[in-house]
This record gives sequence, C-alpha cells and structure tokens, in this order.
Amino acid sequence: MADRPDRNLALELVRVTESAAIAAARWQGRGDKHAVDQAAVDAMRKMLATVDMDGIVVIGEGEKDEAPMLYNGERVGNGTPPVVDVAVDPVDGTRLTARGMPGALAVLAVAERGSMYAPGSLVYMDKIAVGEAAAGRIDIEAPVAHNLAQVAKAKGKDVSEVTAVILDRPRNEPYVRAVREAGARIALIGDGDISGVISTAKEDSGIDILFGIGGSPEAVTAACAMVALRGELQCKLWPRDESERAFALDHGLDLDQVLTMSDLVGTTNTFFAATGVTSGALLTGVRFGGARVRTHSVVMRGSSGTIRFVESIHRDDWLHEVGAID
Ligand code: FBP
Repeated sequence: MADRPDRNLALELVRVTESAAIAAARWQGRGDKHAVDQAAVDAMRKMLATVDMDGIVVIGEGEKDEAPMLYNGERVGNGTPPVVDVAVDPVDGTRLTARGMPGALAVLAVAERGSMYAPGSLVYMDKIAVGEAAAGRIDIEAPVAHNLAQVAKAKGKDVSEVTAVILDRPRNEPYVRAVREAGARIALIGDGDISGVISTAKEDSGIDILFGIGGSPEAVTAACAMVALRGELQCKLWPRDESERAFALDHGLDLDQVLTMSDLVGTTNTFFAATGVTSGALLTGVRFGGARVRTHSVVMRGSSGTIRFVESIHRDDWLHEVGAID
C-alpha cells in the first residue's frame, strides 16, 4: 500500500496547475503560442519538483507541435513514493490563450505506475465521450445517430435536444454532417478537447456527448478525469499517414482496437487537477489584481469519485519570491 497514490496527492497537484495557469495567463492575448507553453512548462516543472511522488512523464505534450515540453520519460516529483505515471498538458488550449479566447486549462493527471496508455508517435485518436447518465450505452463503432439516440434515451430527452461537442477541424466534418443529419445540436470548439470530454459529464454544461478526432495525450489525460466523473470515453488510434500506420504495425498497436476506459488508464486510482487559464464553461480563468492573483481549479480523485472546486488567492510577491513563476 505504501507505494500507492494516496488522497493527499490530488490536493498537491492543484498547486502545480495553478502555477502553470498563472504563468501562461501572463501571455494571454499576446499572440505567442510558444511563449504560453514555455511559461506553463517552466512553472509546472518547478512546482512538480515539490510534490511527494516518484513520477515518470508518460504522456507529455509537444511531439505533435514541437512545443516546449515536459518530455516523455522525464522524472518528476521529489522521488519519494508513491510511484506513479504522470500525464501533463501544461496548457490545453495554447492557441486559445495566445488569442485570448475562452476555455484554456492547465492540466495534470497522475495514476499508478504502468497504468497509462502511451501510443508513442500516434498522436491522434478518434474519441466519443459521455457523462455518467449514458455511460455503458455508447459504442464508437456504431453510427453517430445510434449514439445520439442512446444518450437521448439515457437522459430522457429528444435527440433534437442533445448537444454534441466537436473539435472544429476538417477531419471532423463527417461527424458534423452526421450529427446534423440526426437532428441534434452542435457546439464546435476551436481547441481544448480535455475540457470538451469533461463537459459531457458536467450536469449544467449543456453538453451531452463528444465526437471527433483530437490528441492522444489529451485522451489519456481526460480518461483520468472520467474515472472520477464515472463517465465514459472510448477511443481508437487515428494514424495521419502511411508512416504512422507502419509505426503502429511495428509496435504492435492495433488500429482496429476500441480503447476503453481501462485501456486508456488501467486503474481507478487516478488523480486529476486542472486550473482555468482563460475563462470557459468549466472554470474561470486567472484574474490578476495587482498584489493578488486568483485562480479557479478542479481536483478529482478516481477511486472515491470526489470532485473539488478550488478558488485560490495567491500573493503575487510570494509567487515571485519562491520562484514559482518568473
Ligand atoms: P494544445 O493547446 O495543448 O496544443 O492542444 C489543443 C488541442 O485542441 C487539444 O485539446 C486537442 O486534443 C488537440 O489540440 C487537437 O490537435 P490539432 O490542433 O493538431 O488538431
């Protein structure tokens, strides 16, 4: 038991996402996506070093976009137990932050060592997600209309009242068409499908289901949250080209496999923390008030299913003094 994550970890992780969010938010609207990411990565790395854990970054960010990153295989934490896998997304929504648009989050997830799925250079997955009410009733291989009908039935509403969130990309056009043909509603998002997945499980979000192809790191990270939310996320690897198909073949990755929650993260002992960078449906963004900085975060623990919302007031001078942010 000693090397298993315990309940204290979740509340420590939020300090890491708070730091990353504050650092990133200083770059809000300045048009520099790279600077947003760099600031968040630096802040996250510094704060991670204080957390009581022996972590390895299994899901880092950056391979796809050549962004600054906490690289895969990097040791994080202060080296004491628990022994864990770590998924980081210092900012999910770097573009949103650079443009001052809503919905960017700083995100961190932790689970027992060896439990997180890591598909190497296959950086995209096809995804479907729903909250607890419709969990167990969806099938990524079934037609969109079927899944919409299943969610409608589970939630006691008409298909015309169901809202699907879809990442706005040309590759997701077939989903947009299919949802429209089925008569359901759509919420397109420019970025940030971790928040999109979570919104399906948040009662007052107005979102019922997520469809579409987005990042693989984001899928595994979101799965850690969905364990706590008792929702469901199913995925399939989505190779972009022949070289990625060949990579899958060489590495024994089955492109036809439906990745279930337990494939994405093979434990219910997950921890998830996210802090709003810019305000969105899930969290309020960072607010600077001279000497004080306010943050809004969510902390989740998979085994207990506890969800905590944390509103923090930070002293700007202290953050600088201890080097939490530059
Ligand atoms: P980053 O801000 O971390 O780059 O990710 C934003 C995001 O929209 C993710 O939420 C999503 O999974 C992924 O990018 C989609 O990839 P792409 O922008 O290449 O279509």
